[in-house]
Amino acid sequence: MGTPFISLLEPTRLADYDRLKPHDQQPECAHIPKVFCDAMEVREAVFVREQGVPLEYEHDSDDARSCHWVMYASVNRTTQQQQHDPATGQVTQRKQTETDSVPIGTMRVVPFPHPPHPPHGGVYVDNELQNGRGASGGDSNSSSDGSAGSEDAKTKDGFHEQQAALQVGQDQETTYHDGKEPYVKIGRVAVVKDFRGHNVSAQLWRAARTWLEQNPSYFNPSVRELGLDQVGISGTDEIPEWKGLVCCHAQEQVVKVYERWGFKVDEKMGKWTEEGIPHVGMFMRVDVKKEKPIII
Ligand SMILES: CC(C)(COP(=O)(O)OP(=O)(O)OC[C@H]1O[C@@H](n2cnc3c(N)ncnc32)[C@H](O)[C@@H]1OP(=O)(O)O)[C@@H](O)C(=O)NCCC(=O)NCCS
Repeated sequence: MGTPFISLLEPTRLADYDRLKPHDQQPECAHIPKVFCDAMEVREAVFVREQGVPLEYEHDSDDARSCHWVMYASVNRTTQQQQHDPATGQVTQRKQTETDSVPIGTMRVVPFPHPPHPPHGGVYVDNELQNGRGASGGDSNSSSDGSAGSEDAKTKDGFHEQQAALQVGQDQETTYHDGKEPYVKIGRVAVVKDFRGHNVSAQLWRAARTWLEQNPSYFNPSVRELGLDQVGISGTDEIPEWKGLVCCHAQEQVVKVYERWGFKVDEKMGKWTEEGIPHVGMFMRVDVKKEKPIII
């Protein structure tokens, strides 16, 4: 593997992404950013083909309001084999290679607000809770969309529309979440099979974490943008502000990976399944320095 690099895609309009089609069959007029297509290439390889999640569940409306990180590796490809003269054995054509950058891992950060935490024992199929106890809350890897927002919430402005559709600070209390504090959620963490075991996901998390620490107010709504009535806060309530809390809905089999990054299993969140895969909730807090207010 050559020198890997990581690209970030900030919230983007994805209104024309057709979730029934793979990333490489999207209509040209949809203008899907390359980094997002690359993220979907990895997600399709890992979640759809390897784990059996239906393609149409993989892309969801949280994708548009999320930040996506994609890691690339430089891979050498032979375009022409070496040729010999059969009579003399002399080389007549040297071997030719090309270096391609291929996406090998991805991760996204979904901003607050989120639907309520999944209930213990909940069964999610295509983001719908099957045993009827509240709204969806899934995200990590599989189908659940984890957003109750509208499909037209696609840009950073769209994100604020979607944010207004969900309610901040009305969740059940868990071990690490008081039910009120805004948190961001990492999800769709995937590394292509051949590149596992080389800390690719840890490098993606490091990139995302550094970005979050440097941009703590990026997802905070402003009153001017939302209007107090839209965020569901009265004049006496605080405007929701992210203070470093990060959640993850982890497939049970990879809890250890997240523990290495500092996440802890939230016992009170219990367990639920998404597309038949058992999940648990995990939380950690990243270091958020107060940004200096801009004085005009
Ligand atoms: C979970 C996942 C993202 C971890 O990515 P990664 O970059 O390989 O992470 P690491 O390099 O830290 O390795 C994680 C573990 O996988 C092991 N591993 C090594 N090679 C591996 C391989 N070829 N296949 C699977 N696991 C491998 C590592 O040894 C390590 O375990 P250990 O430290 O206990 O020995 C990746 O395994 C993956 O994409 N899994 C499928 C999708 C998924 O489950 N995503 C998480 C949703 S919550």
